[in-house]
Amino acid sequence: MFKKILLAVDGSEHAIRAAKIAGDLARSMKSDELRVVVAYEPIPPYLGEPNLQVAINARLQEAQEILKRAVDAVGDSNIDLHTDLIEGNSAEAIIEVAKTRNSDVIVMGSRGLGRLAGLVLGSTSQKVVSHAPCPVLIVR
Ligand SMILES: Nc1ncnc2c1ncn2[C@@H]1O[C@H](COP(=O)(O)OP(=O)(O)O)[C@@H](O)[C@H]1O
Ligand SMILES: [Mg+2]
Repeated sequence: MFKKILLAVDGSEHAIRAAKIAGDLARSMKSDELRVVVAYEPIPPYLGEPNLQVAINARLQEAQEILKRAVDAVGDSNIDLHTDLIEGNSAEAIIEVAKTRNSDVIVMGSRGLGRLAGLVLGSTSQKVVSHAPCPVLIVR
């Protein structure tokens, strides 16, 4: 069960908690693969050069740092660890990866970096829970 785990992270505290649980789950399930996904919003091309390239680089660097913090939180294991950096809408990217990689479970936070206090589920987690092709473990 849960041989292939997809962990979605956005740099939030919830996502770090999700990363720790994904690591524990992978170790206890003796999973084969843990794939960490971060999606970043497309950068509008109307920025023009050189601003466009500067904005792209900044966003890629930020996403790399988010991935690195998540991988640290996952902790050590013998599991095959992959990281995916995807441009596009967060929920659509997560669902697409889960489908193409045949993930057995998606692990993610209930909330993220959004500022709408009071919501139980954020916009990404709500959309993923509604359309995911596999079970979703929501970490509070
Ligand atoms: N850009 C993203 N890439 C990957 N995962 C994400 C992204 N944004 C959110 N997530 C995942 O979804 C969880 C919930 O975030 P979200 O639904 O966006 O809440 P909020 O509306 O508070 O930002 C996060 O903890 C993270 O696991
Ligand atoms: Mg969000």
